[in-house]
Amino acid sequence: MTTIGKSMQEAMNEQINKEFFSSYLYLSMAAYFEDKNLMGFAHWMRLQADEEREHAMKFYNFILDRGGRVLLKAIDAPETAWKSNLEVTEQVAEHEAKVTASINALYELALQEKDYPAQAMLQWFITEQVEEEKNAAELVAKLRLIEERGTAVLMLDHRLSKRSGEEEGDDEE
Ligand SMILES: [Fe+2]
Ligand SMILES: [Fe+2]
Repeated sequence: MTTIGKSMQEAMNEQINKEFFSSYLYLSMAAYFEDKNLMGFAHWMRLQADEEREHAMKFYNFILDRGGRVLLKAIDAPETAWKSNLEVTEQVAEHEAKVTASINALYELALQEKDYPAQAMLQWFITEQVEEEKNAAELVAKLRLIEERGTAVLMLDHRLSKRSGEEEGDDEE
C-alpha cells in the first residue's frame, strides 16, 4: 500500500537528486585537493561525499518504506576547478545553505499535507543541516584566517586528516 502523497514523493525524489549532486560536488572537490597533494582536505571531502550519499539513501528508503516509487534522475556535472582552497570551502557553505532551504521547503510541505511520518523523518535532516552549516562556516573562517600561507595550510590539512567516518561525534581532533 502507498502511504506517501504524490507531491511528497515527487519532492523527495527531487531531494534524492540534490543529495547525490552534493555527493558528486564534494567528490569533485576531493579530487581537486588530491591533485594539490592536500590529502587531509581530500579526506574530509571524501567523507563529506559519503555522507551525502547516505542522505540520498535515507530518502530512497523512506519512499520505498511507504510503498512509493523511487525515480532517479540525471545528476548534473559538478565544477572541477577552483581558484583557491578558500573558494572551495565558500562554495561548500553556499551549497549547504541551499540544501537547508530545500529541506525546510520539504518540511513545509509535510506540514501542509499533515504528513506526520515525513515530519518526523525530516527532523533528523533539520538537525543535520545545522551541523553541516556549522562545519562549513568553521572551515571558511579558518581559511580566511590563515589565508594561503603554506605552513598554516599544511597544519589545517593535518587536522582535517583526523576526521573520522563516524556519524556521531565525528570531525576535528
Ligand atoms: Fe545532505
Ligand atoms: Fe550536506
